[in-house]
Amino acid sequence: MESNKIRQAFLDFFAGKDHVIVPSAPMVVKNDPTLMFTNAGMNQFKDIFLGNIPRPYPRAADTQKCLRVSGKHNDLEEVGHDTYHHTMFEMLGNWSFGDYFKKEAIGWAWELLTGVYGLDKSRMYATVFEGSPEDGVPFDQEAYDIWLQYLPADHIIRGNKHDNFWEMGDVGPCGPCSEIHYDLRDESEIAAVPGREMVNQGSPLVIEIWNLVFMQFNRKANGSLEPLAANCIDTGMGFERLCMILQGKKSNYDTDVFQPTIQRIAAMSGKTYGADEKCDVAMRVVADHLRAISFSIADGQLPSNVKAGYVIRRILRRAVRYGYTYLSFNEPFICRLMAGLVDQMGGQF
Ligand code: SER
Repeated sequence: MESNKIRQAFLDFFAGKDHVIVPSAPMVVKNDPTLMFTNAGMNQFKDIFLGNIPRPYPRAADTQKCLRVSGKHNDLEEVGHDTYHHTMFEMLGNWSFGDYFKKEAIGWAWELLTGVYGLDKSRMYATVFEGSPEDGVPFDQEAYDIWLQYLPADHIIRGNKHDNFWEMGDVGPCGPCSEIHYDLRDESEIAAVPGREMVNQGSPLVIEIWNLVFMQFNRKANGSLEPLAANCIDTGMGFERLCMILQGKKSNYDTDVFQPTIQRIAAMSGKTYGADEKCDVAMRVVADHLRAISFSIADGQLPSNVKAGYVIRRILRRAVRYGYTYLSFNEPFICRLMAGLVDQMGGQF
């Protein structure tokens, strides 16, 4: 399935469940002193979760441009070296603002992944929050019991606060979460080590694809948790990872999200993707950073020497450095990749 169709199938599925489809917020955040960039789909809904503004609709779904290069969620140094982290990525999300809760969120995630996308159930794992005495939050028995309707007990894993309690930052909306992981390894590897032992162990082939957050609290500056006025749902699915699975690839960069750009870089540099690891890393870095830089500029943040602008400048420099060092470029080249990116992503954004 082409990536543009994968995205559309997500939006259509939730539109069919009475969700309002909303546009992505800008990736650059100008009105929240706790954030420089959108790092999660829920950022644009933060004030609705906190009850600071009335909900405009009870349910919504979208694809959100996210950038994880600073603050609590920062993946920059991994990007290019592995096959599944990005600076900018799309997060597919569905939202309930005091409307539905765990049963529907889990049930619909299962229906979409297995029924619409046809994922292999035997390769799926769910994690649930083990609880945190220091925060006074118990084991998430409710989510566990719901998952038991879909998955065998040995595919449901208890996770700690690091993996299964999602927080936007040091303060703000948060809550226990349940992640869906997928095992992409070959049958022989699965026979040797079961997937449940590989979840959250850093394997590039046993990866989280969707995080279902049960938003129940506001983390205050003094570290305490205050219950939200209403229970909410915030889900985030990694679009590029979903495309990898549905396109039968083992790297996000082998999907139609990145390959057109990578092939352009290969043609421009006279190198072949897949022939040399150092060049491959460099091509992935450039293909990734092109998106981050272009969307940041389009959303209102130019590279500069301070604050958010400096973050973008560092990303730009990293791309240039890899291009000059490993791909033999010796004059500006990233700008020549823009037209292709616009062709590919302009329809949605
Ligand atoms: N907020 C959660 C995340 O970013 C789910 O959307 O993972």
